[in-house]
Amino acid sequence: MSAASDRRELRLARRTGSHRCSDHLVVAPLWVAYNVNLGTLLRTCDAVGACMAVPASPHYLEALARGDTLVRRPCIHWLDCERERWVEAQRALGWRIVAVELAERSVSLPRLEVAREPTIVLLGHESSGIPEEMVDAADTCVEIPMLGVGRSLNVAVAGSLVLYRLAGLA
Ligand SMILES: C[S@@+](CC[C@H](N)C(=O)[O-])C[C@H]1O[C@@H](n2cnc3c(N)ncnc32)[C@H](O)[C@@H]1O
Repeated sequence: MSAASDRRELRLARRTGSHRCSDHLVVAPLWVAYNVNLGTLLRTCDAVGACMAVPASPHYLEALARGDTLVRRPCIHWLDCERERWVEAQRALGWRIVAVELAERSVSLPRLEVAREPTIVLLGHESSGIPEEMVDAADTCVEIPMLGVGRSLNVAVAGSLVLYRLAGLA
């Protein structure tokens, strides 16, 4: 049997799940600009069983239509109001807000616990990050340690690392 067909069989045996709307893990890349990053995050949502929440703007509608390479895509929750108000409203409903961002009070990723309560993960713009007031309003901020000279990771990489951790898969 060839390596390719071995892999196909392994995939069939191990990827038996189908996406259901997550009632506990939602990624909200509310300020992300590049289509490719949104497409990558959508694949991570599928992998960890999370949903995605984004503004219902032409930018996100187009980016997610283009970046969707999955047979069946994860749930996308379209915001029905302005971003900041939506985050506040979810918080009032009992969701814990985790901002993935460098901040004075950020906890380091290895110390982040698995999400045991409904959690929304905020991700920032590729050049300006998450707006300061949203970082301040979050329940938890998480920073991914970096040893190199780069100032930050690609946002889809950062989001994926945090989602894997919160989902208890890494
Ligand atoms: C490319 S970074 C933005 C960097 C921006 N120049 C700044 O200094 O805020 C885009 C997003 O990825 C996430 N990110 C990237 N690297 C990170 C890290 N090491 N720790 C936490 N979040 C990170 C954050 O959500 C950030 O807003």
